[in-house]
Amino acid sequence: MKPRPTADPDSIRSVVSELRNVNSVLVITGAGLSADSGLPTYRGIGGLYDDESTEEGMSIEKALSGSTFQTTPEITWKHLGQIEHSCREAQFNRGHQVLALMEQHFERFWILTQNIDGFHTAAGSKNVIEIHGNLYQLACTACDFKTAVDDYANLAIPPLCHACGCMLRPQVVLFDEQLPEPALNTLYMEMRNSFEAVITIGTSSYFPYIVQPVRMAQQTGRFTVEINPDQTPVSKLVDEKLSAPAAATLDEIWRQMNHS
Ligand code: APR
Repeated sequence: MKPRPTADPDSIRSVVSELRNVNSVLVITGAGLSADSGLPTYRGIGGLYDDESTEEGMSIEKALSGSTFQTTPEITWKHLGQIEHSCREAQFNRGHQVLALMEQHFERFWILTQNIDGFHTAAGSKNVIEIHGNLYQLACTACDFKTAVDDYANLAIPPLCHACGCMLRPQVVLFDEQLPEPALNTLYMEMRNSFEAVITIGTSSYFPYIVQPVRMAQQTGRFTVEINPDQTPVSKLVDEKLSAPAAATLDEIWRQMNHS
């Protein structure tokens, strides 16, 4: 088996030494962190959006859009079900665990995640902003009914509301939908007290609201890091670019932080 690429040891040491001197950290995570748990990413090699179109002849972005959910919800549900199926056998990894430990260590520590797999909270993190929602929180499209499920194994797809019989949907942000207001409010509130370090992990930085905290930190002289084997729009902005997989890199950072 090909050895897994590891991050440059000098860059890791530099990240560790900077992190020893800060009290507040914002971590931004994307599909690349859960890739170390075996989940597919959205973009890049083997990404869900690599194929031209779905069985229905539309792009996966179209299938997973709010407008398709309005007109043909069974198509959106089918693809959400496939995403959930890929999460079902998987678990949070060492990277998620290290981030949960870091929350205990730093005075102020927040995770802004685009992941809908719920792995951060499962690993024990409390300060998590799920900006794209969560696959396991379901809400009725017609009434106020809400419920949480462990997985979709026993769910008829599409599932119907126990209260009114209308269709349920997961509380995730579909393409062309607005970001959830409570998550945005928490993000704005936390961003008001700026973070001394911002670490972005396993995201293609496709969305402006994911790039912005890194750009703001960089412009105000805060310490910035990217952990991602590939290049992204923030790679050139950050102080340290760790070109390596997320879980092993976080494990090494944490190991060194705990040894003098
Ligand atoms: N460790 C770290 N990074 C990795 C790893 C790994 N083991 N494997 C892949 N990556 C990187 C890829 O290089 C890529 O830059 O993770 C990134 C994954 O990018 P995307 O698939 O675009 O995922 P993400 O940035 O989370 O996507 C954002 O797009 O479609 C939406 O709602 C979906 O939340 C998702 C959003």
